[in-house]
Amino acid sequence: MRILRTIADVRAEIRAARTDGRSVALVPTMGAFHEGHLSLMRAAREENDLVVVSLFVNPTQFGANEDLSTYPRDEARDAELAEAEGVDILFAPAAAEIYPDGFATNIHVAGITEVLDGASRGAHHFDGVATVVTKLFGIVAPDVAYFGQKDAQQVLVVRRVVRDLDLDVRIVACPIVREADGLAMSSRNVYLDADARAQATALNRALDAAEAVLVSGERDGDGIRSAALSVLGEASIDAEYLELRDAETLQPVDAVERDALLLVAARVGAARLIDNRLMRGVA
Ligand code: PAF
Repeated sequence: MRILRTIADVRAEIRAARTDGRSVALVPTMGAFHEGHLSLMRAAREENDLVVVSLFVNPTQFGANEDLSTYPRDEARDAELAEAEGVDILFAPAAAEIYPDGFATNIHVAGITEVLDGASRGAHHFDGVATVVTKLFGIVAPDVAYFGQKDAQQVLVVRRVVRDLDLDVRIVACPIVREADGLAMSSRNVYLDADARAQATALNRALDAAEAVLVSGERDGDGIRSAALSVLGEASIDAEYLELRDAETLQPVDAVERDALLLVAARVGAARLIDNRLMRGVA
């Protein structure tokens, strides 16, 4: 595995490797790898000839009061894990390589970035994601890019950018990877102390409870949400949001007719956690 720091080196390496129609995959990450990241790398490895993983803690998607300075970083460990997954190129640029002096472009997706995490974290968050991901697509020119479904809203934002800007890249969303007790894997789980770690399992249990009432015939949004809310309440978790939204447009829905997502965000101990579950529609 090559570790590359510059855009010029990545382009040269990919140009040399992209012979005879060989496919190129990109897995964009901010490092601090866990099984969720590794599952994206495995999917990319199985389906493509060349696998590029980007490791860049993107400053523009963090708010002033967020955890940019404390975000977990361990490039040496990440490099070992990526190499063990058969990754060909780890692109780990410095911030100045991605945002040189004079950088002035911002990609803003209207509508779906203004709700849920966009409302909680501020508009800069998805602007930062959309802009850096578009840059990474420009640098790597992948045939396909892999994202985790845990960040369901991010996946929809990236799909929107790809559609609207006619970017020639296929987006694959891979299933959420969970710990044995159901907690969705996240780089931010390291912020949880033992009590908060136990409390955090309520997010997945709340989604389980919502899915259970859906499967037993409840289609009404309030009924589904209240099943989840009561689990969160028992765990003393006050959700930042717990919302039922259309799975494609993120418009609020009152009942599950088409596929919907139940999305939750909550502060648990020192971590802000998100999770979601597909609520399968009948239509
Ligand atoms: O999901 C992440 O880790 C980041 O938001 C991404 C897609 C790598 C952009 O910085």
